[in-house]
Amino acid sequence: MGNLCRSLERYLRYGHHESIATTVDSSGRPNSAPMGIELIGDKVLMKPYLNTRTYANILSLREVMLNITTDAFLFYQTLFNSEEVRYGSPKIIKPPRILGSVDLYVECVVDTITHYEDFALISLRPICCYRGRGSRLAYSRANSAVIEALIHYTKLPHLISKGDLEGIRRRYAVLEASRNMVLKVGSDTLKKVVEDVWDRSLRLIREAGITF
Ligand SMILES: Cc1cc2nc3c(=O)[nH]c(=O)nc-3n(C[C@H](O)[C@H](O)[C@H](O)COP(=O)(O)O)c2cc1C
Repeated sequence: MGNLCRSLERYLRYGHHESIATTVDSSGRPNSAPMGIELIGDKVLMKPYLNTRTYANILSLREVMLNITTDAFLFYQTLFNSEEVRYGSPKIIKPPRILGSVDLYVECVVDTITHYEDFALISLRPICCYRGRGSRLAYSRANSAVIEALIHYTKLPHLISKGDLEGIRRRYAVLEASRNMVLKVGSDTLKKVVEDVWDRSLRLIREAGITF
């Protein structure tokens, strides 16, 4: 990778990472969603499920703004309070950048899209990287636990639709452990967040008629 994205190599040096991907729909409305990413050579790989808006938007515009942050609250906001997410102008592509505690913005264009049964493997070419205000956060177990809880919460609908009881049970256990961690060492803000994720998870499970 050339000088362009040296910081990207640094930020994504541990394999699979989490990001927030901002895309726009055909009328220019932004949509942000947490998405896993991995840097392979000079490309960033992403695997959105085919039923996500992120995938639909990428298919139509073929541009993605990656917001790199470690702040669990921002992940939570994009999932559940999208109206609270504030945007700023991008430099080259159409999707805007998220304002707030973001470390690095990576403007990407789609290189290739490969379809699998329920997800697409999207290879992104970073064309512009620049720093944001920054997460400015010391390592926090509660912060990491909230991100874990969010990941496992978002897996539930798929497992429920497949009737995968064992999978649901495993996710439930991780959600419970994450919740306990946050209630032990988290701030009031993160406690509220994790209780909301916990309630939403229980509701999904209950509404599917599942009891353990
Ligand atoms: C940290 C984190 C990483 C995630 N990574 C992915 C991913 O790689 N692919 C995916 O399809 N969904 C992923 N999700 C779930 C999506 O963010 C979630 O389904 C979201 O609602 C999709 O939003 P959209 O329909 O607006 O695109 C992830 C969730 C979290 C919390």
